[in-house]
Amino acid sequence: MQYDLSSRIVVIRLSLPTLLKSWESRMYEHAASIIREAEAFVITAGAGMGVDSGLPDFRGDLGFWKAYPVYARRELSFAECATPEYFTIDPHFAWGFFGHCTSLYRETIPHHGFHLIKKWIKRNGADYFVVTSNVDGQFQKAEYDEERIHEVHGSLQWLQCHSCSNENIWYNDEVFRIDEATMRAFDPLPRCKKCGEVSRPNALMFGDCWWRDRRSRHQEYAFDRFLQLNSARRIAVIEIGAGKVIPTIRATSSNIGKNFDLATILRINPRDPEISSPHHSIPCGALEALQHIDAFLG
Ligand SMILES: NC(=O)c1ccc[n+]([C@@H]2O[C@H](COP(=O)([O-])OP(=O)(O)OC[C@H]3O[C@@H](n4cnc5c(N)ncnc54)[C@H](O)[C@@H]3O)[C@@H](O)[C@H]2O)c1
Ligand SMILES: [Zn+2]
Repeated sequence: MQYDLSSRIVVIRLSLPTLLKSWESRMYEHAASIIREAEAFVITAGAGMGVDSGLPDFRGDLGFWKAYPVYARRELSFAECATPEYFTIDPHFAWGFFGHCTSLYRETIPHHGFHLIKKWIKRNGADYFVVTSNVDGQFQKAEYDEERIHEVHGSLQWLQCHSCSNENIWYNDEVFRIDEATMRAFDPLPRCKKCGEVSRPNALMFGDCWWRDRRSRHQEYAFDRFLQLNSARRIAVIEIGAGKVIPTIRATSSNIGKNFDLATILRINPRDPEISSPHHSIPCGALEALQHIDAFLG
């Protein structure tokens, strides 16, 4: 009897990793089949897409404060720092934050996962579109086609005036010097060529009625056209690192999932993976998930 019991325990111990392995295999095999069958791709990406390139997400105040301890000391949240008011009351402070982000995004090299998705798109001979709330320009850096990207919150790669009626936006090639102890930018600050006043990023901030969204709207029209053209195709929506607090990207994925019969969402997210069938999710980081799927694609 004793012998029987212990041998059973041994059997369970051995089989648990095997079970997990086969569950994982099925999860990746299913993801690979979604990719294999796709005739069009929509990549929907939130801040989590950049984490494996070394960029911070701003998950709650603690996540933001971990990335920027200066703001922790002043108990300023992401929403309080990323507001247009600071460009009026303290532009050196405003550019301290946005200039730092701009330089960080410029220095960052997109992780290999960006290139794996491009490889799948090419192999399937499929069209694609990227929809992202990220303002970091990482898809452009990974050489995705500028005409196939919708930046729903704009981009730090572009500037607009903070003061005058200048409707123009222009490329941000400014160089920033920041005192990291105070997170204040040194002069000179970026200025509007028309009125000479301080300019600001062409990105949507919190409580922002002044964002000039023309560029983003133009991208949105192109995305709508893409969806119309591909409505009868099998669309794989690869959603990566989109959080629930500002759910714009998750809403984009689920709208496509609801409105297009042949669309399947593949959600990659280590902390917020939940999704219902027939859609599919992988509860781990972007790079790990994409590399595993690639291995299953062979
Ligand atoms: N890089 C950027 O441009 C950037 C960075 C931070 C915040 N933002 C802005 O702030 C808002 C934040 O919303 P959000 O939902 O994008 O970010 P968020 O910080 O609220 O959520 C990030 C999500 O990424 C997931 N995640 C964490 N590590 C990951 C990894 N290694 N791989 C995949 N996923 C991972 C988390 O589970 C979470 O669901 C957006 O509106 C965006 O404009 C932009
Ligand atoms: Zn101006």
